[in-house]
Amino acid sequence: MLGNFSYCNPTKLYFGEDSLKFLNEELPKYGAKIMLTYGGGSIKQNGIYDEVMAILKANGKTVFEDPGVMPNPTVEKLYEGCQIARQNEVDLILAVGGGSVCDYAKAVSVSAYCEEDPWDKYYLRMADVDNKIIPVGCVLTMVGTGSEMNGGAVITNHASKLKIGHVFGSNVFPKFAVLNPVFTYTLPQYQMVAGIYDIMNHITEQYFSGEDDNTSDYISEGLLRSLIHSARIAVKDPKNYEARSNIMWTATWALNTLVAMGKTTDWMVHMIGQSIGAYTDATHGMTLSAVSMAYYRHICPYGLPKFKRFAINVWNVDPAGKTDAQIAAEGLERMENWMREIGLVMNIKELGVTDDMLEGIAQGSFIMDGGYKVLTQEEIISILKASM
Ligand code: NZQ
Ligand code: ZN
Repeated sequence: MLGNFSYCNPTKLYFGEDSLKFLNEELPKYGAKIMLTYGGGSIKQNGIYDEVMAILKANGKTVFEDPGVMPNPTVEKLYEGCQIARQNEVDLILAVGGGSVCDYAKAVSVSAYCEEDPWDKYYLRMADVDNKIIPVGCVLTMVGTGSEMNGGAVITNHASKLKIGHVFGSNVFPKFAVLNPVFTYTLPQYQMVAGIYDIMNHITEQYFSGEDDNTSDYISEGLLRSLIHSARIAVKDPKNYEARSNIMWTATWALNTLVAMGKTTDWMVHMIGQSIGAYTDATHGMTLSAVSMAYYRHICPYGLPKFKRFAINVWNVDPAGKTDAQIAAEGLERMENWMREIGLVMNIKELGVTDDMLEGIAQGSFIMDGGYKVLTQEEIISILKASM
């Protein structure tokens, strides 16, 4: 049974090959001072920077640049961004990049006018925002996180070896997001497939919880089928617009709160993956793929009916003459084969994890209670060992 909920996603999306021009509709809604936030330089190489700059200038904006947002943005970079935003009293943060840039922009938006240390307030204490929020807009160049239409803002603190996501409310969601699938063509294959798995895992984290017959799970199955199909095309033909646009759209719906409505969710793969990220700074999607099979095989017996449904409805396993456990196992085997086929990292050693890190990674993995099994530290360590 679906629980009670209210649903409103305030982010306005502009999707398609011509979507960048809609910046001309959005920019006049904000003051003249724009903080242009971007990553390590990909947007300068592929020309997106020039296109965005031309539109900003044409709209009479004064641009304060905030470059150098690294993958897995750090707390030190957050402090730097807050200073730029506050000193220049910017009216809008325009994030041009992937999830890291969009997440960071949201973190700056709530932290620039925060009177205390934002790491303590938002990440250690998970406090609500009670200060001025600078509006954020996104031009997405990397697909996976769903950050373009949600309140997530993940920040890494290397000194304390913690990577933590604060999921802010709808007042922090981007006001608008431009989604042009062509902008993702220049992504390295490694990043593209990491993003594809991030999408899959966002859906499965929300799907593998509860056993009710609800619409959210049917939507999730449809999104997964589309993703599996489009990913196979995109890895062979990265400039296939149909595949790349389907992947981009699936990513947004995978984590814009829709498929979690009215049901419980898990998120343990992300908790373990984020802790691996804090230790290794590895690419987010790969930290998830590398532990997923060990995790799902571990919890499968506790959520057997759902794993059986997953095998049949998502992976087309024929149930005839098989036990539920056999059907579920075949589904996970097909999932693993697909993961290997598209080129995901399937073990944590490859990400730089060494045996002496396992204890710390387990301790840094926040334990959630929405999945089929509330894990103990020992179980996390055994999942990590099985992922080596
Ligand atoms: O920095 P540049 O030079 O732009 O290069 C980036 C970066 O190296 C590159 N890239 C992006 N667009 C490109 C491109 N290269 C060529 N052409 C393009 N069009 O790709 C690399 C990775 O970018 P990044 O933004 O780090 O990737 P992603 O989108 O996967 O974001 C990862 C971050 O988002 C967080 C992750 O934890 C991680 O910190 N997440 C945010 C979530 C949310 N907001 O809800 C949920 C996710 O589960 C995730 O935790
Ligand atoms: Zn993710």
